[in-house]
Amino acid sequence: MKRLIGLIIAIFFLGGAASAQVSLLCSPGNEWCEQLGPHFKEATGIDLDYVRMSSSEGLARLRAESSNPTFDVWFGGTGDPHLVAFNEGVTEFYKPSNWEELLPGLRNSVGETYIPLYTGAIGFVVNEGLLAEEGIDVPNCWADLTDPQYKGLLAMPNPNTSGTSYTIIATLIQIFGEDVAFDMLKDIHQNIAQYTKSGGAVGLLAGRGDVGVAIQFLHDGVKYTKQGFPVTNIAPCEGTGFEIGGLSLVNNAPHRDDAIAFIEWALTPEAQKIAAELGESFQVQSNMNTPVPPESPDLDSLNLIDYDFEHYGDPAVRNAIVDKWTNEVFPIPR
Ligand code: G6P
Repeated sequence: MKRLIGLIIAIFFLGGAASAQVSLLCSPGNEWCEQLGPHFKEATGIDLDYVRMSSSEGLARLRAESSNPTFDVWFGGTGDPHLVAFNEGVTEFYKPSNWEELLPGLRNSVGETYIPLYTGAIGFVVNEGLLAEEGIDVPNCWADLTDPQYKGLLAMPNPNTSGTSYTIIATLIQIFGEDVAFDMLKDIHQNIAQYTKSGGAVGLLAGRGDVGVAIQFLHDGVKYTKQGFPVTNIAPCEGTGFEIGGLSLVNNAPHRDDAIAFIEWALTPEAQKIAAELGESFQVQSNMNTPVPPESPDLDSLNLIDYDFEHYGDPAVRNAIVDKWTNEVFPIPR
């Protein structure tokens, strides 16, 4: 199998040798994005440039340049915007040669729309020491976050830029229904010290003690713990949502053959294990042969909701939810 993948990569490499270059839109943490180029070059000889953009920002960029795309591949970031991009024809589905090696649960959830790259669940990354100093309880449930005792102590990303944020909002809607979820988001808004551009950034605020609770992916909490920050992960008692991070071929990609060579490489265990080796990204990777890092949150032990990817990846649904939050929650004085 390894030999077959190597052969496919070599064929694409030779085919595209005249313009050996991949332009990547990269949405996970920057350290991971940064390492892709050198490793890919070593494996295939093909050059790669990247621009890091959060998932919602990346979607906006791909939409804006869809008639004249500059990116070849969209690597990582939450799945809903990848599905929106597919539904709008901004990306196309490419079926990788090792499709059958990808975790069936992930493949079946998104169908042949985008390629699952990794998965991880939303939760609270908490600076318990800071909360204890302030005499404030550790939150265990989504409903706890609406309590005024957390005023100025919460951080979450902004859904206009961050896919993590959209996953958080879609999770609340799926657990509580839209009306209750938006009431909760208004109460949570009263407690927010800062909305960040990217999903990964909020954990650093909790780690540094700028806030007590960061709402983000639990695997990002693992990264901050490993970096020595005093944070712990808490999975909300009512259940939680999760992402199926995406990998997509841009429609009319300027370097299509090299883009496909990159996709083939990015789905190998050798490429996927780079994320955890960097001490940077502790998602569960999509190839079932990629070792799951021991530090990764155990998704089987979490109360995961039956996330409706098809519905929340519908462009009209997504636009309506982000607009509603932007118009009805964000402007409320706090
Ligand atoms: C972090 C997480 C990824 C997630 C990404 C989304 O990097 O580790 O699993 O896909 O955030 O980024 P965004 O900035 O769009 O929320």
